[in-house]
Amino acid sequence: MLNKICLIAGFMTAFALSISPLANAAGKGDPAKGKEKYNQICASCHGPQGKGDGPAAAALDPKPRDLSDPKYVSTLTDEHMFKTDKEGGAAVGRSALMPAWGSILSDADIWNVIAYIRQDICKCQYKGK
Ligand code: HEC
Repeated sequence: MLNKICLIAGFMTAFALSISPLANAAGKGDPAKGKEKYNQICASCHGPQGKGDGPAAAALDPKPRDLSDPKYVSTLTDEHMFKTDKEGGAAVGRSALMPAWGSILSDADIWNVIAYIRQDICKCQYKGK
């Protein structure tokens, strides 16, 4: 009887451990770490303040989105931003000039960048369409 309880407790611990990394990734991410990646990768097009005015933006049509516009960014879910960042604009029906970063950024990096955009660039959360 005691053995059985130990076995069940063991399974439950293993299960809890196996889902916790996922739970972390789906949580809000770390804005400070996200800022580093944003400045390294996103700012060249989206601009250091997210206004869509980075040095590479002049050559692009359509222009990189103004990520500092809370009116627009609050219509985008975190999941939409995640897919856009990981798989590129074309994966979400936008321009392929927004590149896919899935081979460069880990999922955790992407959640960190999203947390940074929400906290410091648009200062907004998803509010619905
Ligand atoms: C090579 C230039 C370039 C870089 C670098 C870039 N983007 Fe973009 N991004 C674009 C363009 C262009 C669009 C506009 C696409 C459109 O409107 O069809 C865009 C759009 C977006 C959107 C809006 C998607 C939507 O549904 O409207 C988000 C969010 C975004 N980018 C996030 C990022 C993040 C985060 C990074 C860094 C990891 C990044 N971008 C790096 C060019 C870039």
